[in-house]
Amino acid sequence: YGLEEELVAQLKKYIVKKSTNKEFVLDNAISRSSTVGNLASNQQIYEQEEPIKRTSPGAERILQRRSLEILNKQQSWQNSLEGQKMQEFRKTLPAYKERGSLLNLVAQNQVVVVSGETGCGKTTQLPQYILESEVEANRGAACSIICTQPRRISAMSVAERVAAERGENLGESVGYKVRLEGMKGRDTRLLFCTTGILLRRLLVDRMLKGVTHVIVDEIHERGMNEDFLLIVLKDLLPRRPELRLILMSATLNAELFSSYFGGAPMIHIPGFTYPVRSHFLENILEMTGYRLTTDNQIDNYGQDKMWKMQKQALRKRKSQIASAVEDTLEAFDLREYSLRTRDSLSCWNPDSIGFNLIEHVLCHICRKERPGAVLVFMTGWDDINSLKGQLQAHPLLGDPSKVLLLGCHGSMDSTEQRLIFNKPEEGIRKIVLATNMAETSITINDVVFVVDCGKAKETSYDALNNTPCLLPTWISKASARQRRGRAGRVQSGECFHLYPRCVHDSFADYQLPELLRTPLQSLCLQIKSLQLGSISEFLSRALQAPEPLSVQNAIEYLKTIGALDEYENLTVLGQKLSVLPVEPKLGKMLILGAIFNCLNPIMTVVAGLSVRDPFLMPFDRRDLAEASKAQFSSRDFSDHLALIRAYEGWKNAEKRQAGHDYCWKNFLSLQTLRAIDSLRKQFFYLLKDTGLVDDVDKCNSWSHDEHLIRAITCAGLYPGICSVVNKDKSISLKTMEDGPVLLHSNSVNAQQPKIPYPWLVFNEKVKVNSVMLRDSTAVCDSMVLLFGGSLSRGGLDGHLKMLGGYLEFFMKPGLAETYLRLRKELEELIQNK
Ligand code: CDP
Ligand code: MG
Repeated sequence: YGLEEELVAQLKKYIVKKSTNKEFVLDNAISRSSTVGNLASNQQIYEQEEPIKRTSPGAERILQRRSLEILNKQQSWQNSLEGQKMQEFRKTLPAYKERGSLLNLVAQNQVVVVSGETGCGKTTQLPQYILESEVEANRGAACSIICTQPRRISAMSVAERVAAERGENLGESVGYKVRLEGMKGRDTRLLFCTTGILLRRLLVDRMLKGVTHVIVDEIHERGMNEDFLLIVLKDLLPRRPELRLILMSATLNAELFSSYFGGAPMIHIPGFTYPVRSHFLENILEMTGYRLTTDNQIDNYGQDKMWKMQKQALRKRKSQIASAVEDTLEAFDLREYSLRTRDSLSCWNPDSIGFNLIEHVLCHICRKERPGAVLVFMTGWDDINSLKGQLQAHPLLGDPSKVLLLGCHGSMDSTEQRLIFNKPEEGIRKIVLATNMAETSITINDVVFVVDCGKAKETSYDALNNTPCLLPTWISKASARQRRGRAGRVQSGECFHLYPRCVHDSFADYQLPELLRTPLQSLCLQIKSLQLGSISEFLSRALQAPEPLSVQNAIEYLKTIGALDEYENLTVLGQKLSVLPVEPKLGKMLILGAIFNCLNPIMTVVAGLSVRDPFLMPFDRRDLAEASKAQFSSRDFSDHLALIRAYEGWKNAEKRQAGHDYCWKNFLSLQTLRAIDSLRKQFFYLLKDTGLVDDVDKCNSWSHDEHLIRAITCAGLYPGICSVVNKDKSISLKTMEDGPVLLHSNSVNAQQPKIPYPWLVFNEKVKVNSVMLRDSTAVCDSMVLLFGGSLSRGGLDGHLKMLGGYLEFFMKPGLAETYLRLRKELEELIQNK
């Protein structure tokens, strides 16, 4: 146990050093204005627009002038040639016909519910109508419209579009603000932001001072933030009688929202879409004829040497497709056109068999169908990427120069985004592989064919086992309808549903609201920091209240990590966590990384956990990829240390202009590493802004210390912890709640014959058939004791009990007292008392 003593000695040093430092004053920092420009942080949202006081002399005139400026701009644009063209286009949208009645309803009612098919002009037009009419009524300078979007990418792309429609640059009258990023100017009157940003603003500005209109978009998705925001706004409305609330939804279940707001008036924008023909799996297989390409045809493809190899690959691929289709037929028992039970289908995984089906249908479309873009709905970013890889230069798709393959997902960059909306040149087939974000929040106009795999990744939450699961699950009928509708924007279209009709008939009507299927920790923390009273009472007033057990679990978790005290009051740590725009556990890691001057590696870990894993595992080179990942963590037994090493290696390679090569050799995603890099920078500004760090060098004086990195990782991930027992030939892992658990094969710990540590802390466990831990780091007893959870829950005894009631370590005389004392000092340090 030399290691523990070493650690104790180090900790003593830190504590002495740090507690003599001046306290970090995050609370004061909140009121400071931001200095770091665009990327600044959530600090910007605290920064209130300087309100123009109507009482001060001359203010009225300034107000008038500003308003006139905006108005004049609006008018001169509308008179320009381009502006007129844009106006013409805007008038063709279905929403335009309802402009007058919409504005009337909004003027006369505090809450209005608007529904209308995707693409009818809710998001881009309605907020603009309001802005225009305010400007026309000479209230332009005084109005402030906030329109929330569930996703960053839609907030950004919509803002860009609306600014373009107004002939402006972003940041003039139209702006956006998403986590850690934004474009917003002094005269911004219409702000598109994520729902999370508005919630954060409510933290410091509970009355939404100065805001005249709040528009909550895409409420039919029933995201957790939106449901939460509705409770808060419902409370706020009576106290802000002038404030207008507009709820927008793509589907027709507007009654639910209307009745939640005491019978608020509803308006429906009738849309027009061309008819879309639906094909279910049974017809698809027939119409596309999966024996489409006969060996004979392949033989005729070409005669030269290169073709020979191509042909071999083709034959192999073709037989794979054929056998996968056979498997599918069997799984569905389609030969008898009956379906045994819906459960028997849960094994049908669109990511494996479905892949081949998607490939198959795409080949059919490219070779046999008329021109038109194809939109493919898939389950996630990983699948999109691997399918994209597989399809690149796929011989069955025809001439590769005639195919434009694009991905569409939450983390794409803006160039990629623009390509998606653009119409390609004549003769080029655009194929967009998308997640379900293309269902309602993004409109791609030229789509004629839709391929729907029938599933979407959905977080669900098993409250009994307190385990979040992220699994591809069957979509709802409403989603299937939405997906189908995407094909009829410009002409009649076709939709290929890759599942039989009987499966479709067994779908739920609507998806379960997120509030009822995800862990509620961040949400509960926000409820406390917004001082909304008892968590359970508050949540019971939701549109659909979550289960009491889920709420209890979240509260327990927050107590365990020390964010709430025994009486459910926010602790100082909790307060700090609630202003950091990351999950509580990640926030805790950042704070500790700053306190212990071990910031760089911890920021890498936190950024990696909030973006995604940069290690690629291509399915056909898995062994190589695993071996490559293992070399980053030879004796560390830690995925997080592997991540740190890979990132640092890449940074060094970048200096030599060899970043690309480095990624290619080491199976790393360059795009992900770049995303991690930019998030890290933002974390740094954020921590600097909040006064937690001051100097780059100083806050990294312990960054080389691997023990400390482990300990801080442990502090963040606890109580995500399992015990390790090394048996003869295998390792057995157990968590308190689940019993035996397994490691995901991507983890560097999965291949280890022995793990010489008593514990693994993990970021995520998912339940598939058994409980699987994704990434993990091995830690020793002292790290768990000093950094795991909070002591306040029943002193050291209670703490030990939570750890499973063992630890022979404490048999050593005197050590228990030393630990207890250190632990107390440490917590006081963290809680900043
Ligand atoms: O919100 P909703 O689904 O009702 O429609 P929207 O997002 O306001 O889009 C209305 C129309 O604007 C779409 O049908 C597109 O024709 C057009 N649009 C566009 O051309 N480019 C964008 N980035 C967004 C919308
Ligand atoms: Mg919309």
